[in-house]
Formats: sequence, C-alpha cells, structure tokens
Amino acid sequence: MSKKTVRDIDLKGKKVLVRCDFNVPLDENRNITDNTRIVAALPTIKYLLENNCSVILCSHLGRPKGEFKPEFSLAPVAKELSRLLGKEVIMAKDVIGEDAKTKAANLKPGEILLLENVRFHREETDNDPEFSKALASMAEVYVNDAFGAAHRAHASTVGVAAYLPAVSGFLIEKELKFLGEALDNPVRPFMAILGGAKVSDKIGVIDSLLEKVDTLMIGGGMAYTFFKAQGYSVGNSMCEEDKLDLARELMQKAKDRGVKLMLPVDTRVGKEFKPDTESKTVAWTEIPDGWEGFDIGEKTIEMFSEELKKAKTVVWNGPLGLFEFDQFAKGTNAIAKVLSELDATTIIGGGDSAAAVRKAGLQDKMTHISTGGGASLEFLEGKKLPGIECLQDK
Ligand code: 3PG
Repeated sequence: MSKKTVRDIDLKGKKVLVRCDFNVPLDENRNITDNTRIVAALPTIKYLLENNCSVILCSHLGRPKGEFKPEFSLAPVAKELSRLLGKEVIMAKDVIGEDAKTKAANLKPGEILLLENVRFHREETDNDPEFSKALASMAEVYVNDAFGAAHRAHASTVGVAAYLPAVSGFLIEKELKFLGEALDNPVRPFMAILGGAKVSDKIGVIDSLLEKVDTLMIGGGMAYTFFKAQGYSVGNSMCEEDKLDLARELMQKAKDRGVKLMLPVDTRVGKEFKPDTESKTVAWTEIPDGWEGFDIGEKTIEMFSEELKKAKTVVWNGPLGLFEFDQFAKGTNAIAKVLSELDATTIIGGGDSAAAVRKAGLQDKMTHISTGGGASLEFLEGKKLPGIECLQDK
C-alpha cells in the first residue's frame, strides 16, 4: 500500500486519535447484535497499547443528524470493547466538550478513551475545519482505521488529517490488500457475483468490474431489470423502467469485452411481500402477472455453482434474493456455501452480503469479508476513498 501505516511512524508513548467505524447494529435494548466491526479494530488498538500510547477512539453510530440522541450513544461500544480487551475503556460524555477534553488531557499511556458519537455535531458531516481542529488538538498523531467510513469526507475521517501526522491502521491496510489485489492482480478465472435491489446502485461497480472479470453473475432484485430489458414480462417484480437502456448497454459491453455475463434462468416468485407468502419457481421468461420475483431458482443456483467451481478469485457484493425471509434465502445461502468450499480467494463486499454469510455461519470460510458496505462498493467501482487519500504517502 502506498500510504503510511502505524508501523511507519514513531508513535511510542504518544497521544493517538483513532477513527474507527463502530457503526454496529443494536437491538431495541441497545445490545450490539454484531460486534464484527469492533473486533476488526482490535489489532490497531492493541498495537497502540503495546507501544504505550494513550489511545483516543472516535466513531459515528447511525445518523443522529447533528444532535445528541441517547439511542445513538457509543456507550454500548465502550462496554463491548472493554469486554474484548479485558481492560477499562473510559467513555467521554461528549466529543469536543469539557468532559472529552479533560479526559483526553488526563489520559495516561496504556489507557483508552472513547469519545461520544462524532455525528452528534453537524460539523462532523460538514467536515468543518474548526471541529476538525478541536478533535485534532486532543492528540499528537491521527490514525484512520475506519474503512467502512472511508468513502465519507467528514471531519473525523478527513478533516483532522490536515492538523496531525495521519496514517492508516491495520484494518484499512488489510481491506486495501484484499480488495486491491483482487482488482489489480487477480488469479484467474476472476468472477464477480452482484446482487442487491437496484441496478442504479450498482451501475458503477458493474461497469468497472466488466473491465476486469472473466465472468459476471447477476442476481437479486436488479436481475429483473435485465429481464425486462430483453423484452420479457417481470410481473410485479422490482424493475427500474428508466434503466432498461442502461441494462442493454451493460449487456453489450460484456459481449464486446468477452466477459461471460450470467443472468438467472429461473426465479422463485411470491404472491406478496410477506415471509410466508405462497411461492413457486418459474423460468425467467415466464413470470406470471401478479407475482413478484424474490430469489434465484434451483437451476440458476446449479448453473452459478458450476461456473464458480472454476474460479480462482471471486468477489461477491449484494444478496441474490430477499434473504431476510427464509423461504427466499435459498439462493443467497447456496451461493455462500459454494464459495465457502472453493479453493479460491473469496472476497465478500460488506453490507448485506456480509450479513448473509454470517447468518449462514460461513464467515470463517471466506478469505476476506469487508467491513465496509458503501466503502467497499465505491472501492470496487474504482473510486478514490477520501479517508484514505488524506493519509500520508509512504
Ligand atoms: C456503514 O455502515 O456503511 C458505514 O458505517 C458508513 O455509514 P453511513 O452510510 O451512515 O455514512
């Protein structure tokens, strides 16, 4: 990687501000339901503690829109982090207020402080220079390890880097290694599986991957736009009428570039958007009126699986069906299982596909599961991520 990491800078005994992505899911009692992002931040935090640093952590949680809202407090994260580290994590009551400043000033080497949710201030998302300066004034070095928020040009992800020596942590380094190597230097055959609801969310990534992959498989809600673009009826399935031309262009681009573009050959349709709705499998050319496509069908699972068995590198982003409803999770689960058994590098773009892999209990069987949703998508699109661009070059 071309950016400096914590290894490339002298930070022994220093006060270090670390931006993490602790944007974790919480249940109604504010219990953390998935601590992956906290666990992923541990290597950097431990390294800093071993180097006798005073560690000041900051993060966003949800989108509180610039106001203090107790349900968006990072207190549950402090508790979980403390449990994982077996060590007290001091929680600040605010971000750049008196409590945070005093606790940061008194922080001793080997101690950890977690500031409150940076998004309690509108200045965070505005990337306000005064707010950035106030954050930076608490520390001597800035470490960005928030890969999941690296596509946001906010005060704590970009602004602070103007006021402190800025390097990356181990999580960002690892994410760039796996995602970057897959894109720049994949062992072939290189295949991508793209799912998710809308073509419009994935145009950039389809376009960019068509330049790189040998095979591209498309499932999820966006497949129906591709069906319609070929003149077939999709019943009540999700379809973006204004993206039909684009879908045709993408199919043409695949042809021109010699990329094998695979669309579903059958689909599981349901009567209503309900977990227990009546459902059946039909050919993609025969979706009946009044029915809605919610998953890929068995023949498609078989066809995708056979192709995937030839892969040496696979990138997967987006579920292949409505996996939140068990009866429409079969396609997503089956493909996750196939990937887990491949002798290939398997990279799961974050967000829903990562959640689906975890739900299937297959997380340990993949080469890399990205902690970024939007960030990994933008990276796969070939975009520069501002939270990484702002760091010091090697
Ligand atoms: C995520 O969950 O993808 C990141 O934490 C970024 O969150 P955001 O979309 O609210 O900026």
